[in-house]
Amino acid sequence: MKTPKRLQPLVDDGLIDEVLMQLMSGKEAQVFVVRCGDDVRCAKVFKEAKQRSFKQAVQYQEGRKERNSRRARAMAKKTRYGQKEQEQAWLTAEVDALYRLAAADVRVPKPYGFVDGVLLMEMITDAQGDVAPRLDDVTLTEEQALRYHAKVIQDVVRMLCAGLIHGDLSEFNVLVDAEGPVIIDLPQAVDAAGNNSAAVMLERDVDNMRAYFGRFAPALLTTHYAKEMWALYEAGELHPDSQLTGQFDFDNHIANVDELMAVIDDAKEEEAERQARMRDDDDSDEIPQPY
Ligand SMILES: Nc1ncnc2c1ncn2[C@@H]1O[C@H](COP(=O)(O)OP(=O)(O)O)[C@@H](O)[C@H]1O
Ligand SMILES: [Mg+2]
Repeated sequence: MKTPKRLQPLVDDGLIDEVLMQLMSGKEAQVFVVRCGDDVRCAKVFKEAKQRSFKQAVQYQEGRKERNSRRARAMAKKTRYGQKEQEQAWLTAEVDALYRLAAADVRVPKPYGFVDGVLLMEMITDAQGDVAPRLDDVTLTEEQALRYHAKVIQDVVRMLCAGLIHGDLSEFNVLVDAEGPVIIDLPQAVDAAGNNSAAVMLERDVDNMRAYFGRFAPALLTTHYAKEMWALYEAGELHPDSQLTGQFDFDNHIANVDELMAVIDDAKEEEAERQARMRDDDDSDEIPQPY
């Protein structure tokens, strides 16, 4: 295909040899399949700040540590330069998260760098070598649903041990390769220790997975993995290989009504957004994926 403008600098620099096709685009980015030498990779191009929506909300950014002190000072001032630095910090959040999570043994696409606002990463494929489907596109047996759910929970635990919460985990942001689930789409990743909404975000992520896999394995619908892992995390007892039960003793925890209401509100909002996204996808004129 013709090289999109945003990818031209990477072609000129020899980082990309050829742009092969565009995948169905999501809310915040366009993803292209590109050839780099003998490898086929994905190039994720972020939309302009004003076209992006909820993920950049302050709620997600709270507690993020800016390691570059010059940038931190610039961001604190509300100047145009400060805003540019803020935007840059947001864009690098996904590639930072991918490196951190790969190091923590979470199954995510292997990152190959972030250049000119474009994230280059491993293309996740199915057993035939074609672009992997999203969880939302597959039908699972009960046994597969239980196995994949267990793997996602293990990855969420490892993420939490690495200090991160996905923040937008759903059947649209998990791909399925020959081995199982692969978590993608992390620019909004939430700092687990420094963000006041961390517990609520974790619960929403984990409950989305429960609802999805619960369609194929109803036994999952009565589990409480989010509560269990957050209690262990807060007690400093969560480890990358912690074996969870899915059970949680509510009697020993004082109900926090405000937090519960926030979870319910978030879930409603998420559902409305999902419906809107499905409508968008239906009338999109982009090249559909072969699934
Ligand atoms: N590494 C990858 N391998 C294969 N497909 C991918 C990869 N990254 C993204 N995609 C495809 O592109 C779509 C959009 O990417 P995503 O990171 O979820 O961005 P958005 O913020 O736009 O939702 C995904 O739903 C998926 O179908
Ligand atoms: Mg997505």
